[in-house]
Amino acid sequence: MIKIAPSILSADFARLGEEVAAIDAAGCDYVHIDVMDGHFVPNLTIGPAVIRAIRSHTARPFDVHLMIDPAQPYLAQYAEAGADIITVHAEADRHLDRSLQVIRDLGRKAGVSLNPATSEQVIEHVLDRLDLILVMSVNPGFGGQAFIPGQLEKIRRIRRMIGDRPIELEVDGGVNAETAPAVIAAGATVLVAGSAVFTGNDYRSTIAALRPRTA
Ligand code: DX5
Ligand code: ZN
Repeated sequence: MIKIAPSILSADFARLGEEVAAIDAAGCDYVHIDVMDGHFVPNLTIGPAVIRAIRSHTARPFDVHLMIDPAQPYLAQYAEAGADIITVHAEADRHLDRSLQVIRDLGRKAGVSLNPATSEQVIEHVLDRLDLILVMSVNPGFGGQAFIPGQLEKIRRIRRMIGDRPIELEVDGGVNAETAPAVIAAGATVLVAGSAVFTGNDYRSTIAALRPRTA
């Protein structure tokens, strides 16, 4: 079962509550929320207040992707705001093992994200603390960028590292109906898609187009 996590980065921010309700009604699995600090990445987006404001508009899990450095001082705020999965970047964390423990101690699922240039080796010793691994297939900061094909090999390697652990493998950036099949074949279980979902008017069909064909 492949999960689809639309990134609200490409939603209409003036109508964010309605947009979240619309992707829920259209059959998304997670709501992917990109938090950027203008420091770890060259863009600034939303924080806990906005997450709290949209929480009541859907019961779907909030998949919160923290592109902030440092992340550790803010983890409790994101948990309280309504995050179900909290993902930190390996590059933004000198004490990744501790951050992952903190997230689980807050009762949330713990994820780690890797930039395109980062090797999967950095997560080898924290696998048992992980609920989700997020492979960036673009350089984080903006929606609408082109998928970096070299990341497919990393996805395959991480698939092998995971073995039979119950860890989700999420891929984020440039995922659309054309790139999704290769991403799924490489071993991804969760697809993030911003522009591919929100560019169309019919979210049910843009979400469905990302799922594997069953025929
Ligand atoms: C980029 C974000 C992504 C982004 C994906 O830094 O992490 O979640 O919204 O957008 P698309 O799907 O348009 O590449
Ligand atoms: Zn993201």
